Amino acid sequence: MRRVIALCCLPLFFTLHTPAQVIQFDSGRRIWLITTAYSSYAMGLTPDGELQHLYWGGPLSRIADLPPAQRRRDISSFDPHQMLENEEYPGWGGPRFYEPALKITRAGGNRDLVLQYVSHRQEGNRLDIELKDIRDPIQVTLHYLAYPDTGILARWSTIHNQTSQTITLESAQSAVWNLPPGAGYYLNYLSGRWGAEDQINREPVREGMKVLESRLGHTGHNLSPWFAIDDGEANEDFGRVWFGALAWSGNWRITVEQTPYQQVRIVGGFNPFDFLYPLNPGESLETPVFYGGFSAHGWGEASRLLHRLELQDIEPHGLQARPRPVLYNSWEATEFNVSEEGQKALAAKAAKLGVELFVVDDGWFGERSSEHAGLGDWYVNPQKFPHGLASLITYVNQLGMDFGLWVEPEMVNPNSDLYRKHPDWVIHFPNRPRSELRYQLVLNLARDDVKEFIFNTLDHLASQYNIRYFKWDMNRIFSEPGWPEVPPNEQRELWVRYVQNLYDIMRRLREKHPNLEMESCSGGGGRVDLGILRYVDEFWTSDNTEAFDRLHIQNGFSQAYAPKLMSDWVTDVPNMNHRSTSLEYRFLVAMQGALGIGANLNKWTEQDNQTATRMIALYKRIRNTIQFGNLYRLLSPWTHDVSAVEYTSQDGKQAVLFVYRHSQEFNTPAPAIRLAGLDPKALYRLESPDGKLQASGELSGAFLMQNGINFRLSDDYDAAAVILHRVDGN
Ligand code: DGJ
Repeated sequence: MRRVIALCCLPLFFTLHTPAQVIQFDSGRRIWLITTAYSSYAMGLTPDGELQHLYWGGPLSRIADLPPAQRRRDISSFDPHQMLENEEYPGWGGPRFYEPALKITRAGGNRDLVLQYVSHRQEGNRLDIELKDIRDPIQVTLHYLAYPDTGILARWSTIHNQTSQTITLESAQSAVWNLPPGAGYYLNYLSGRWGAEDQINREPVREGMKVLESRLGHTGHNLSPWFAIDDGEANEDFGRVWFGALAWSGNWRITVEQTPYQQVRIVGGFNPFDFLYPLNPGESLETPVFYGGFSAHGWGEASRLLHRLELQDIEPHGLQARPRPVLYNSWEATEFNVSEEGQKALAAKAAKLGVELFVVDDGWFGERSSEHAGLGDWYVNPQKFPHGLASLITYVNQLGMDFGLWVEPEMVNPNSDLYRKHPDWVIHFPNRPRSELRYQLVLNLARDDVKEFIFNTLDHLASQYNIRYFKWDMNRIFSEPGWPEVPPNEQRELWVRYVQNLYDIMRRLREKHPNLEMESCSGGGGRVDLGILRYVDEFWTSDNTEAFDRLHIQNGFSQAYAPKLMSDWVTDVPNMNHRSTSLEYRFLVAMQGALGIGANLNKWTEQDNQTATRMIALYKRIRNTIQFGNLYRLLSPWTHDVSAVEYTSQDGKQAVLFVYRHSQEFNTPAPAIRLAGLDPKALYRLESPDGKLQASGELSGAFLMQNGINFRLSDDYDAAAVILHRVDGN
């Protein structure tokens, strides 16, 4: 039986086949082949049990075609065979000096580790391979889980200490990805800073090593745990792309290394920086998941495959999740100046516009009237909310909206009751300064008592009140990462245990409150990754809500993360960089993901209200296509004066196009926009809500994709939307 997949990311007339058996094993030649409609991945064993990588790329169907794994010959005493073979998961041992997957020290100081195959288990699309050191019972299980709908492979490892002595892990990586040997590859990655996340970089892969990482304690604004390496000739639609994303919200690292013999190796997992993790006899450590996939159709398909995986297989409710509601958040309007009366007034206005989720941001608790105090004291401020939150929540619910609340549970201001009571609860080194950032310190979530405090605080709020949504913030990086209460050799476990406990709290909260939704925010996009996505419904993309800047940030974000996960607000102008754009333009930018409003509604005119009501109603008609459909980046704001994005719905019945013009010169028409992902034979009725489309009636998919359509975009920061309705009933 063959499984037919209707593809999310190719034109609908395409179907591809995943073989009935995704994982095949040739026991005679000891080769594994993992094949889906999109990609294949192969490994093999040498006669002496070394597990070698054999293939990663487009789909192969015949395992017999693959050459068996074999030992190479030394080239010289400087180039031993171990450095020429693409080992699947090399320990640091023997003459291996490329980036290892695992590096350890035994109790007596012995650091040599050479891993060999012991056994394997296969169940459905999951394969576990056991490796063991050639002498000692130090074992590693390599896990492989194939997702046939996207061809993406989840890889991670579990390291077990079966010896009778403690071993110390110095580097524990999730996986090594080997590219087909050769040169000329290009690395694409996302970098940035607070207020300017997800800027796109593209550079040649050359000999030596490029390091993408966070040492900051959280995922970080500076680099995203994602990569895409292409064959040097790729673009949005063409070319071979190998891509991956590491699912970890703490210190992570991805290295891209090209050896002198044209092997390109991507190694990712826990950041070895300041990492020491002891494993006592019988203990084990599981590494983060490192997802990897392949696209034969450029960066566009690579993104769509990753988006599909995120929506279908990673985020909490999968494809059963409700569409992201239209949200209102008063942070930019009121900052800390929140009150029951003020929030009720904003809620009444938001409800009239069609908002569905009303969120109270920072400032509702403790003595929190500025950044200087209150974090950690999670009781409702009685002056600001004399009736607790209940009266406001009831009011919001009566207006037909859900209620959401901002929290930053991992932090404490020194000026708080919590800190006065538990100064030892923060990450610190004894008798050393405690660096404050935004006047706050980081609670040591690695401690079980802190973990329980945070769980109980949030559980209490979610149990006491009808809270549908937490905006979970985290507003500083780590410093002085000490944990003096545990023995010195365990103190650096903090980096790992902090994140494990964070996930654990989120998991328990979701289990106990199944309707509760969460947003991962860290001063904007500081904690965006596929690890935390298992527990949250969306990400706050950036504190920079200025629309033109956002076009770039959102384009970068979309390389790795699905539009549904991208929280976008319409805010007031001028904002951040003093630029002014029309309300329509701001709405059309924010509609690229999960639409929200963060403006001061008290200042909006009647005309603003009408515009917003119209735009929100429009968004609700197209949001299923935007949030659950397939994204095509037609023209990039990084390279084009006129940029465009298109979304096609899963059933192929609707497509949505947004076009943005940065600036115009007198009488210079905007270029025709050629669509993608349509059925060339189908007819589409064009709807132009703003009347800027210079075409009407029905057009064929072929014409729309080959000739394109034109727009009247005659202003600076001008934008238009088009809805395409498939009319031939298919
Ligand atoms: C940083 C967030 O990114 C903002 O949206 C806002 O919630 C502030 N923190 C509140 O302190």
